[in-house]
Amino acid sequence: MTDVVSLVSGGSRGLGFAIVERLLARGDWVATFSRSGSPALSALVAAHPGRLHVESFDAADSSAIQGFVSHVVETFGRIDHCIANAAIAHEGVLATTRDDEIDAMLAVNVKGSIVLVRECVRQMLMQPGAASITLVSSIVARSGSPGLSVYAATKAALEGFAVSLARELGPRGIRVNAVAPSFLETDLSASLSEENRGRIVKRTPLGRLGLPADIVGGIDFLSSPRAGFITGQVLTIDGGSS
Ligand SMILES: NC(=O)c1ccc[n+]([C@@H]2O[C@H](COP(=O)([O-])OP(=O)(O)OC[C@H]3O[C@@H](n4cnc5c(N)ncnc54)[C@H](OP(=O)(O)O)[C@@H]3O)[C@@H](O)[C@H]2O)c1
Repeated sequence: MTDVVSLVSGGSRGLGFAIVERLLARGDWVATFSRSGSPALSALVAAHPGRLHVESFDAADSSAIQGFVSHVVETFGRIDHCIANAAIAHEGVLATTRDDEIDAMLAVNVKGSIVLVRECVRQMLMQPGAASITLVSSIVARSGSPGLSVYAATKAALEGFAVSLARELGPRGIRVNAVAPSFLETDLSASLSEENRGRIVKRTPLGRLGLPADIVGGIDFLSSPRAGFITGQVLTIDGGSS
């Protein structure tokens, strides 16, 4: 039996990778998945023998998520923290957004996160001790951004999910929160034009785009006993831009 077990979706790169790194560094046993691996993630597995469980599958596949959570419990014995991070963004004005793009964002960002959390909650309810769920939202859920309306809708859905689930699970000792980052320097925002990048930096009091490292501190905190009386909250981490 291990001490603290954390599960993170989308850990191969970007914010998810930074979360996996931080949780390993604080001593957790960690499990993650994404569609493909990455050399950086393979290096982390090699550096932490037996402490990092990695699988490859699509978050749109509910039965694969169920299998993954079962494997994590078989391997590590419990799940203390679930961080639903994996998401996709198709940028474009609504009028030209295709059905398959809408379906993909809803399937991965909303249903994939909800199914992952449900599977973790089923395990958390059967084990002793406190547990936490953290959903990765975005400031666009509330502040909006042209060309990101469907993506913003998926993130707003997760925030509604988090606050309701916090009420449902609080009496069982399971906390549920979300973090809402601003634009980050990751693959997801790589298509941002120089003009838009400049506009974002200009309206950000701290004068730059965020980095994954700026966000992991909040997730580390929310998924720790230091946040033991915090639930149903959305923590905005945006350099003051919204
Ligand atoms: N970047 C930003 O500006 C920004 C701002 C606010 C909020 N966020 C949020 O922060 C989170 C992380 O974003 P990021 O910028 O780190 O994105 P990223 O660099 O594109 O990384 C996304 C991660 O999720 C995985 N993933 C994507 N689709 C998947 C699928 N269908 N099934 C399984 N895994 C999948 C990716 O791996 P594979 O591609 O190999 O599957 C990767 O590991 C997301 O929830 C995003 O909405 C990002």
